[in-house]
Amino acid sequence: MLGSSKTLLGETLAENDIKVFGDLGNDFYFGVANAAFQVEGACNVDGKLPSIWDEFSVQKGNIKNGHNALEACDFYHRFSEDIALAKSLGFKHFRFSISWTRVVQTDLVSKNQSGINFYKNVLYAILKAGLQPWVTLYHWDLPKVIEDEGGWASRRVVQYFDSYVKLCANEFGGLVERWILVNEPAAFVSLGYLNGYHAPGRKSPFAFLRAVHYVCLAVAQAGRSLREICPNSKVGIAYNYSPVHGNSTKDHLVVKRVDAFINRLFVEPFLGFGYPSGDLPVLKRLDRYIDSGDMDKIKFSFDFVGVQYYFRVVVGSSPWIPFFGGREIPAAKRGVTMNSMKREIYPEGMLESIERFHAYGFKEIVVTENGVCYNDVLKVINDVEVIEDQKRIEFYRDHLEQVMIAKNNGAPVTGFFAWSLTDNFEWAEGYVDRFGLVYLDFTTQRRILKDSGRWWKRHLCS
Ligand code: FCB
Repeated sequence: MLGSSKTLLGETLAENDIKVFGDLGNDFYFGVANAAFQVEGACNVDGKLPSIWDEFSVQKGNIKNGHNALEACDFYHRFSEDIALAKSLGFKHFRFSISWTRVVQTDLVSKNQSGINFYKNVLYAILKAGLQPWVTLYHWDLPKVIEDEGGWASRRVVQYFDSYVKLCANEFGGLVERWILVNEPAAFVSLGYLNGYHAPGRKSPFAFLRAVHYVCLAVAQAGRSLREICPNSKVGIAYNYSPVHGNSTKDHLVVKRVDAFINRLFVEPFLGFGYPSGDLPVLKRLDRYIDSGDMDKIKFSFDFVGVQYYFRVVVGSSPWIPFFGGREIPAAKRGVTMNSMKREIYPEGMLESIERFHAYGFKEIVVTENGVCYNDVLKVINDVEVIEDQKRIEFYRDHLEQVMIAKNNGAPVTGFFAWSLTDNFEWAEGYVDRFGLVYLDFTTQRRILKDSGRWWKRHLCS
């Protein structure tokens, strides 16, 4: 710590933290992010269709401790409270996702007016609070009726996604400038179709390869439609990015393969470079699904790119492992600092991630997610409920510092979204690993500010 100074709120701030916030600038976007399935609950109301996550998350064995998201954070009924909370912490940007399953009927074409009204109300509340909405159009909750026809692994999804995005553009376009077409394609396609850890729980290399190609086609097509309907909008995508490092220098080939798989697969086709099959030869098998003209249709220039950095991946060679010829060396074996999901905490990876997107030539880079999970505990001290999450404060400070370095080095990084405002349903991990700045008591739905929430408030409101 370099020293400290008093804020308007009368609390003490470390000088190096002040420098980070100061250097990022007054026009830097600070926001919080969440996703429909992780927070909304109300899975079966007002004409909502079942999604692949509704189905997957209640099947035995899929979610830790048998948790489910039937109620989650009850954002469906409590969104006003959460938007007010975000505002009270000083955030000016609010990212949430629209659930495809709420806004259409079973034919996937007719509108479901109650669902549309719900999202309009969320948008009105965000705007009324003086915040800017950032809307994710697909954050993993595919309508089950589409999965029944093959899901992302069937070419039909391209038309379905296009018509859904057009519907959203027509209904919400007047209220939204910032759109994120899909969240983390590399994550939902590999976890959902290759290793089955996420919905829809498929474990098929063929379905995986098909889904890769159809997601790219669907994103580009829907991106064009969105731009046509809302010419003043900014159309983006959000990528998970994990720098891949070798356990030793002799692992450089496996580093290239894993990097192609995690980081390049869904970036380079849009830029017109095709799939990175030179470094990951198994991708040559994609050829059988590519029709003539497809690769041209996939070329699409995003207005901004969302980078979501949580941890790096360290790999070692292992010739008998198919697909990559390598394996990940777990953080626990490397003796490094970890979060509660046993992922390494490695702030320098933030700089590396942003610089990679800068090197690709993207004109605007936004950190659309970053955060850390711990098994936070609610304590009562002198009759006051507290959550002492100093480690989360350090995490944010250290990662923001890397964003600042990237910016000072010339990367066009314009914003940072904390994942997440409140603790929520963390997919297959259930509710144990908490990411919020605000603690959620899932039995009563009470929201209690963590020390990290106070830290953000001190910086953003001072
Ligand atoms: C990201 C997801 C988000 C959340 C965070 C912790 O990969 O986009 O929904 O689960 O991880």
